[in-house]
Amino acid sequence: MAGQAETTARIAAAAEALAAGELVAFPTETVYGLGADATNDAAVAKVYAAKGRPRFNPLIVHVPDAAAAFALGEFPDEAKALARAFWPGPLTIVVKRAEPCPVSLLASAGGDTIALRVPSHPLALGLLAALARPVVAPSANPSGRISPTTAAHVEAGLGGRIAMVLDGGASPVGVESTVVSFADGPAVLLRPGGLDREAIERVLGIRLKAAAKEAPGTALAAPGRMESHYAPRAAVRLNVTAPQPGEALLAFGPELPATAGPLRNLSPAGDLTEAAANLFCYLHELDALGVAAIAVMPIPHEGLGEAINDRLARAAAPR
Ligand code: TXA
Ligand code: MG
Repeated sequence: MAGQAETTARIAAAAEALAAGELVAFPTETVYGLGADATNDAAVAKVYAAKGRPRFNPLIVHVPDAAAAFALGEFPDEAKALARAFWPGPLTIVVKRAEPCPVSLLASAGGDTIALRVPSHPLALGLLAALARPVVAPSANPSGRISPTTAAHVEAGLGGRIAMVLDGGASPVGVESTVVSFADGPAVLLRPGGLDREAIERVLGIRLKAAAKEAPGTALAAPGRMESHYAPRAAVRLNVTAPQPGEALLAFGPELPATAGPLRNLSPAGDLTEAAANLFCYLHELDALGVAAIAVMPIPHEGLGEAINDRLARAAAPR
């Protein structure tokens, strides 16, 4: 581990690069983000270019605390309650943009809403404090590919296209933030993620509605919900109890089917939090072996299982 002085120096260098309009990848508790100064149109445009990301897919704006978020968006009381309960942490809240709002309209993909999040990772918070401006950060992977949970994943996907990567080790949560929107009235779950739905429902005292599925090619409420996403190069087969010869096995739990191929177990103990933390890393590892297909055992749907199954369904979707 780097000493405190060295960490402070790395954060200062990263903040300087961001202030100069460059792209910096940095760790968050969920996945690594590809950061840019959210108030700089040219810098935000660079994010879309580096990822090869469709222009209509808006970006999450990261801020150091709830007060900073409340200044950028119009938060109804329920949204404030969620912010107070779960920030810093793996929750993104979508609200109407404040008027005026210094964040680039490109981050809102031209719309009138803004997605805000206060990450809990100390390096992310250190960077946000050092820059003292909001930072847009999508997951730091080429568009449509698996999200990165280590600095090495970022280098492999985007190395050469970004100024620097701030290395903070493996992201502990391992799946992206849960996205909840208040932009059209009552709370809607746009993306299951690292904060489980039950925790949010307890604070709101209601059952969360899931967003309606968009037709392909329409303006999107949560474009990260595009069908094929988080795709490894290998084909992905779900709910497998008997892997085929030549397939790698992504297992879950203590009881494994017989297999001769490469194997990773998301959680031998059957723990969904541990499985989420390992998910993208193991997909990256199995994919790097060059197997034709990855067979995935059934994963229970409760708790973080909702986010894990969502990402796996996208990884398996037709491309
Ligand atoms: O955990 C995370 O959320 C990570 C880390 C880096 O913070 N970021 C992340 O960003 O996953 P990204 O761009 O890969 O996914 C952002 C999701 C997308 O589904 C996007 O469509 C949605 O949030 N989103 C962003 N702004 C939105 C808005 N104004 N309205 C609706 N959805 C929005
Ligand atoms: Mg992403």
